[in-house]
Amino acid sequence: MPAVVLGVGGGIAAYKACELLRLLTESGHAVRVVPTASALHFVGAATWSALSGQPVSSQVWDDVHEVPHVRLGQQADLVVVAPATADLLAKAATGQADDLLTNTLLTARCPVVFAPAMHTEMWEHPATRANVATLRERGAVVMEPADGRLTGADSGKGRLPDPAQIFELATQVLGRGAQALDLAGRHVVVSAGGTREYLDPVRFLGNRSSGRQGYALASTAVARGAEVTLVAANVARPDPTGVKVVPVVSTAELRDAVLHAAQTADAVVMAAAPADFRPVERVEHKIKKAADGSVPPLALTQSDDILAELARDRPHPGAVIVGFAAETGDDEGDVMAHATAKLARKGCDLLVVNDVSGGKVFGSGDNEAVVLGSDGSRTPVVRGSKAALSHVVWDLVSARLASARPDPADPPG
Ligand code: CTP
Repeated sequence: MPAVVLGVGGGIAAYKACELLRLLTESGHAVRVVPTASALHFVGAATWSALSGQPVSSQVWDDVHEVPHVRLGQQADLVVVAPATADLLAKAATGQADDLLTNTLLTARCPVVFAPAMHTEMWEHPATRANVATLRERGAVVMEPADGRLTGADSGKGRLPDPAQIFELATQVLGRGAQALDLAGRHVVVSAGGTREYLDPVRFLGNRSSGRQGYALASTAVARGAEVTLVAANVARPDPTGVKVVPVVSTAELRDAVLHAAQTADAVVMAAAPADFRPVERVEHKIKKAADGSVPPLALTQSDDILAELARDRPHPGAVIVGFAAETGDDEGDVMAHATAKLARKGCDLLVVNDVSGGKVFGSGDNEAVVLGSDGSRTPVVRGSKAALSHVVWDLVSARLASARPDPADPPG
């Protein structure tokens, strides 16, 4: 039975950790709850003890013969801190150990997931930003807080992520065992969806991309410990948990957002389908039908190739650049011939190739692919979920990053 320590910080969102605790215990995890003294102002020890079926303590002076301040961390398979307050993040970042939870964080050698909750000003304060960056560099997963209603009348970024989503992340991390957080300390950028090029205020040129593959890439990267920026073009899906989402509309906006985020990225995965052409001119008013039935001319110009630009200019040296290609065979060559030529033309490090002959893959929940490497490697991916394909992509990215720079993730907290 996997051993989980649930650390609870002193914030009003502590009540939501009860639901997380239920999800963990009901799915067969042995959970030891370690609330801070301030957390007990919000939810009492009796609740934690009853829900977990385990003794509960905040300080190191109970059951001293069992040396709990060392044992709990050493024996845990996962530590989840929810809510992680600004104070708790600061203590963890500076290695303070003045209660049972902070001692546990120092002794844990397993993956550590922080689910922050605080007011927007506290989350955005340079001190918190620096503490979060330090923890991520050391290999901890610090989820992005959700946007929405905070305590009191204000709203903004700082809400505790949904307990079901923290649970999902926790079980994904546990499921991957020792390799769980191979992207910890890395920043990855994923683009998703299809761009739109407006002709007038209501009409656009677009494509059928649903964004599902890009969203799966973002979620799986979070579960492997990465800080994730998701540049999303017109995707009608809820934001994946723990991801910074940058919404865009056109290819030009997608380019700006990706190039900006890529300056600090260890990997950029272009899963979006940018419109290759845009109208030369966007008309400010709705184009009316002419009385004589004449059709307005549609003059198009080609958009910038973002993937080729990233691969050529390398905004962050050493970053792994990944493209996607949906190909069909034709008189000029088969799918692999087109894909190999595209890999060379774009200059990226990896190209995920989907054979879409006969409408395969589009709109489907599953995916089958071959990943071509600039080193001549070929990695076939059998038909499976978009999450499974995403993990293969991150395996390949992670291996390239590890060979270029040693894993920063040691120790985790
Ligand atoms: N891509 C990009 N910028 C564009 C077009 C495509 O960055 N303006 C990226 C896509 O995100 C994808 C890869 O390039 O990762 C391949 O896209 P694809 O549409 O197959 O490439 P094209 O260069 O448009 O090739 P084709 O002529 O075969 O459509």
